[in-house]
Amino acid sequence: MPHDFMPGLAGIPAAKSAISDVDGEKGILEYRGIRIEELCARSSFLETTYLLLFGKLPTQPELNRWVTDVTHHRRIKFRLVDLMKCLPDGHPMDALQAAVAALGMFYPGRNVSDPENNYWSAVRLVAKMPTLVAAWARLRRGDDYIPPRDDLAFADNFLYMLTEAPPHPLWSEIFDDCLILHAEHTMNASTFTGMVTASTLADPYTVVASAIGALKGPLHGGANEEVVQMLRDIGAVDRVRPFVKARIGAKQKLMGFGHRVYKVKDPRATILQALCIRLFHECGGSPLYDVALRVEEVADELLHGKAVHPNVDFYSGIVYDKMGMDVDLFTPVFAMARVSGWLAHWLEQLRENKLFRPDQIYAGEHDRPYVPIDRR
Ligand code: SDX
Repeated sequence: MPHDFMPGLAGIPAAKSAISDVDGEKGILEYRGIRIEELCARSSFLETTYLLLFGKLPTQPELNRWVTDVTHHRRIKFRLVDLMKCLPDGHPMDALQAAVAALGMFYPGRNVSDPENNYWSAVRLVAKMPTLVAAWARLRRGDDYIPPRDDLAFADNFLYMLTEAPPHPLWSEIFDDCLILHAEHTMNASTFTGMVTASTLADPYTVVASAIGALKGPLHGGANEEVVQMLRDIGAVDRVRPFVKARIGAKQKLMGFGHRVYKVKDPRATILQALCIRLFHECGGSPLYDVALRVEEVADELLHGKAVHPNVDFYSGIVYDKMGMDVDLFTPVFAMARVSGWLAHWLEQLRENKLFRPDQIYAGEHDRPYVPIDRR
């Protein structure tokens, strides 16, 4: 029975899932039924990752074991460091995708029908993605790789591996919230990509490497980097209106705006704004934020009537920029959080797997003759 073709599968359910839910009309996001506002206020990224992967909040012993396992698996093999040293200068998402694909080569036990294998694959990917991101950020500049410190919590350790500076308590707390906000988001393009790969029974390192590829695109995870570039291009509050007017007039998308599901402001954008304010109280303001606020005002006026509002990518980069991160690291930071959601959907997919193989509506010709080259 042919179904109507929906470009981008817009509104077409691709799976049944209990991992997260978005109410696009009300601007609500829940992980395993818990609102993200609650998780940001009371949970941690590692506890949230446990919730996403295993479907429930851990008991204290379960959380202790999970944190210990992840903490003790943060290191990467020296050959992975050497591989990254040999890569040409390029985008950190390319380096991350190459490194994650190579990471799997060190662990032959990748038969996905073994729950024990799957647990340790999840531990390694959650634990090592930050190490890979931080390693590339330093190696590409000719700096030494800084190994992880087991005495530091997840967010502290990542910030330490970037700069070797002692952890800044407020920054770690805010960064941990950013990771929670980016951990999962129903059937987004990179999660769907990972699920398609997972449905072939490929190993989880390959699943994550394929999802990283999809996240890189500027319409998806790559938007956070584009937003900060856009805010820098605008440069000043009094240049916002002409910039936004010209962009919309030329039918060009405003990066960090719009969403396939949200018809109101992305709740994550609102939380990220609050994180910006907390950061600014401690470390001083950001001209990018002032420009961003004005962009939101003008866009709301000029796009009025269209359900186009700021999404998660509009304010996230301002936080990372204030923490001194290179702009091209913003999407890898997104990836090291979203690996939780990708792995949760991978495990859920395996429970009732069916190979993804959609149909098409053929728009070509039939029975065309093969014309010899001297008669074309
Ligand atoms: C993420 O799916 C997820 O959940 C993703 C994500 C996650 O957590 O995984 O939330 C993370 O990827 C957020 C989105 C980041 N991308 C961007 O910020 C790039 C800019 N945004 C757009 O490219 C766009 O909004 C999309 C891709 C996000 C969604 O596009 P859709 O659903 O395909 O909608 P569309 O392009 O068909 O636009 C519908 C209308 C159009 O107007 P009309 O032609 O009907 O008159 O809205 C307009 C568009 O022109 N519109 C925009 C706009 N986004 C949509 N107009 C100006 N600026 C924009 N950003």
